[in-house]
Amino acid sequence: MVDYDTQRANEETREAWNRNASFWDARMGEGNDFAEILILPAVERLLAIKPGERVLDVACGNGLTSRRLAAWGAQVVGVDFAEEMIAHAIARTREHCDRIEYHVLDATDEAALLTLGERQFDAALCNMALFDMADIVPLTRALTRLLRPGGRYVFSVLHPCFNNPHVVQMA
Ligand SMILES: C[S@@+](CC[C@H](N)C(=O)[O-])C[C@H]1O[C@@H](n2cnc3c(N)ncnc32)[C@H](O)[C@@H]1O
Repeated sequence: MVDYDTQRANEETREAWNRNASFWDARMGEGNDFAEILILPAVERLLAIKPGERVLDVACGNGLTSRRLAAWGAQVVGVDFAEEMIAHAIARTREHCDRIEYHVLDATDEAALLTLGERQFDAALCNMALFDMADIVPLTRALTRLLRPGGRYVFSVLHPCFNNPHVVQMA
């Protein structure tokens, strides 16, 4: 059962990302130095995608990582709970369209995640998003059923020195 505070935090986060979607998309585009130099080489090495593998991209944002995974030959399902982000992801996806599908889906909703199909994924990615989620237990639990035996789950988060209560500005 989801408590009121968690539900409210989740809704506030979704509203914030919907409001920020165009700004994020304009700034991030198809990647910046932070993503391309610091984050994605390590993430992609750990994921070790083989062509044809099915990969779940959790909190895919404007689809940057989904498109990169599809370019590696993966069959990608990108999900994000901000419909404005998914709209940008769809608008940007002009190549490998047969290898990427996007869904508006809340990663704190275990039942919704499981509608993607049990044992359907060889790997899952959650790039720079876990720290935004009001509750990460439903996703972690769902992944144990969404991934095939031996499946990989790779996530990246900011180091706590950059993301902690002291750097959050309260309204
Ligand atoms: C910092 S962006 C990262 C986007 C993308 N993973 C990337 O690397 O470019 C965080 C994303 O997490 C998404 N997000 C946050 N909480 C979520 C949730 N509960 N379910 C699905 N998406 C969520 C936001 O909408 C946003 O698109």
